[in-house]
Amino acid sequence: MAELSERKPVESWSTDWDHFDPTYLADPDAVWAELRGQCPVAHSDRYGGVNVLSRWAEVYEAIHDPDRFTSRRLIINEIPTERRGVNLPPINLDPPDHNDRRRALLPFFAPPAIKKWEEPIRQICRRELDRLAGRTEVDLAVDYAQVIPAELTAIMLGVALEDVPMFREWLHDLLEVGPTNPDVMRATTATMMAYMSDLAKERRQHRGDDVVSFLLESEFEDGPITDDELTRMIYLFLIAGIDTTWSSIGSSLMHLARNPEDRHRLAADPSLIPMAVEEFLRFYPPVWVARIATEDTELGGCPVAEGEWVALGLPSINRDPDMFEDPDEVHIDRKVNRHAAFGLGVHRCLGSNLARMEMVIALEEWMARFPDFEIADESRVTFAAGQVRGPRTIPARIL
Ligand code: HEM
Repeated sequence: MAELSERKPVESWSTDWDHFDPTYLADPDAVWAELRGQCPVAHSDRYGGVNVLSRWAEVYEAIHDPDRFTSRRLIINEIPTERRGVNLPPINLDPPDHNDRRRALLPFFAPPAIKKWEEPIRQICRRELDRLAGRTEVDLAVDYAQVIPAELTAIMLGVALEDVPMFREWLHDLLEVGPTNPDVMRATTATMMAYMSDLAKERRQHRGDDVVSFLLESEFEDGPITDDELTRMIYLFLIAGIDTTWSSIGSSLMHLARNPEDRHRLAADPSLIPMAVEEFLRFYPPVWVARIATEDTELGGCPVAEGEWVALGLPSINRDPDMFEDPDEVHIDRKVNRHAAFGLGVHRCLGSNLARMEMVIALEEWMARFPDFEIADESRVTFAAGQVRGPRTIPARIL
């Protein structure tokens, strides 16, 4: 795996933002809180110019105006505009082009269609829990959370489970190292595209019960899908569903390991788990995305230049006091909880119901087997760097 690059230290969060700075990596919520309170539209010259939005109002405005703020690129990186990677439908398309590609994917993610993944998810969880039987020290992230979405994605793509460790390595290099290291980003993208292209070609010859075959059978306004577009769509499928859901399952277990009251409540009443999952998504949202300004414009009274990044602070707006009562506290039975962990507007997450199902099953199965556990060593808890954030090691003790 590639290593993170060295960064020039940030001098001021409102004028010199860098989400790869060690201070941000150590405690992003403190940085977001500072910006939200003092400078809701911050600007940094890094990455070719970034405007950082930390309040609900400006994020809502930018996300609902794709003419001014395009989805052409979402992951802030150092590569100059004209060479910024590949276009992944539907996430990198703006309306009206976006509509047809999203519409085609909808049936795959509809609640009745995803029910068939419930049993495979439960089996993955139970098998991992069986492996942990008898142990008192476990890693909640490595031994459990990370396995579930990675294996499910492999099953949904119809590829061998042996490929899963390779997926994890690619995602680390692409999402954690690539944004500040263009060589790693290009090399990883090329490797992943080659894998997906081979898969697309193979599945054209031999259909299966998987997302690749589903897309080959789908109707598009402009005729059957080409191998090139299919390759890019399944590449997105791999990026979108693994690190995000892994992070969310990990954050939920980390919270429960740290908070005995919430843990005991869920153990005593598992019917609270779906509601708790929503609160974990609000409080520990695993991803934020960006847009690119298509014209010189303004947001919240601040100028935004054409071609600059606009960072949509989803973790920040989930704690906006104008939107949430008591936003800095976790209430696992929060009644009104219209959080933005899955985004807002036309690109709102297509996999949200699937992700929720994975989280609920992962917690149900864990709590049924190991209702009492705690962090074994806080100093060894580590987090992913970049726009997808979640715990990557959580040493825990089974009680
Ligand atoms: C907890 C887990 C997840 C979170 C927090 C999450 C979050 C998000 C967010 C914030 C967006 C909007 C991006 C934007 O506005 O540019 C998005 C889009 C998307 N997500 Fe997820 N996601 C999760 C899991 C999944 C899973 C499991 C899948 C599929 C297997 C998936 C597939 C997608 C797709 C295809 C889009 C693009 C939708 C479009 O452009 O219309 N996500 N996700």
